[in-house]
Amino acid sequence: MRSVLVTGGTRGIGLGIARGFAEAGDRVVVCGRDEARAREAARGLPGAAEWVVGDVSRADDCARVVAEAVRRTGGLDVLCANAGVFPSSPLTSMSQDELDEVIDTNLKGTVLTVRAAVEPLAASGRGRVVITSSITGPLTGYAGWSHYGATKAAQLGFMRSAALELAPRGITVNAVLPGNVRTEGLAELGEDYLERMRSAIPLGRIGEVDDIASACLFLSGPGASFITGQTLVVDGGQVLPADGWAFEPRVPG
Ligand SMILES: NC(=O)c1ccc[n+]([C@@H]2O[C@H](COP(=O)([O-])OP(=O)(O)OC[C@H]3O[C@@H](n4cnc5c(N)ncnc54)[C@H](OP(=O)(O)O)[C@@H]3O)[C@@H](O)[C@H]2O)c1
Repeated sequence: MRSVLVTGGTRGIGLGIARGFAEAGDRVVVCGRDEARAREAARGLPGAAEWVVGDVSRADDCARVVAEAVRRTGGLDVLCANAGVFPSSPLTSMSQDELDEVIDTNLKGTVLTVRAAVEPLAASGRGRVVITSSITGPLTGYAGWSHYGATKAAQLGFMRSAALELAPRGITVNAVLPGNVRTEGLAELGEDYLERMRSAIPLGRIGEVDDIASACLFLSGPGASFITGQTLVVDGGQVLPADGWAFEPRVPG
């Protein structure tokens, strides 16, 4: 049984990741900013899941959340740095506040959470970090999400150096790159968006949170103990087509 902290584990992908670990028999702590949502999320998980309220963009919150997770579960073996926001904002009308919120949550939040977790993860002797990045930024672009894409690509720059820095302490640091995954946050983008995305995915469906949970379980499991600084794309093949015709084989003549 391992101790697992999932930031942004109170809904969407993070809650799916938390459920995956809880169903595997691990002790899970979920973190988010909304207390009622965090309490409800933990209550719905199998086993004795715990919740802690915290804002990953604040260094003091990250330190407190990690300390609470360690106190309640007896240590920390796995950190899933998943908390993130994805408001759309065209470049020409993007306010500094919108830019700051996305950078503070997605990029600084990842760095601050991992930094706060280093000592307990090292003490575990088998520390694992799995960062939730995205295909948007590292592999693709999307009009309206330039700030978001920048943070998701930056998470990988951070991951590679952190993986090197933490390797001597037995900690691996990897990232999952989800495509479009059915979550409360994605639903807020509307049915039209979901349908357009579904038609762009070669496997013909929007991803489910379980698809991302399995990737996190793999990257933090014994089968991945020699993998660090790497990315795992989980997108139903969405980034594969070279153009709109790539779905159909061309018949000669
Ligand atoms: N859904 C997709 O298709 C998709 C695709 C690629 C990547 N991703 C990435 O996957 C992650 C989760 O996305 P999602 O779709 O599951 O989002 P979501 O449904 O909106 O859930 C986001 C979670 O993060 C928490 N959160 C947000 N800001 C936080 C902060 N400052 N501090 C602590 N917790 C915070 C939220 O709780 P509170 O609001 O209570 O704080 C909630 O638990 C994000 O990093 C996102 O970029 C999602």
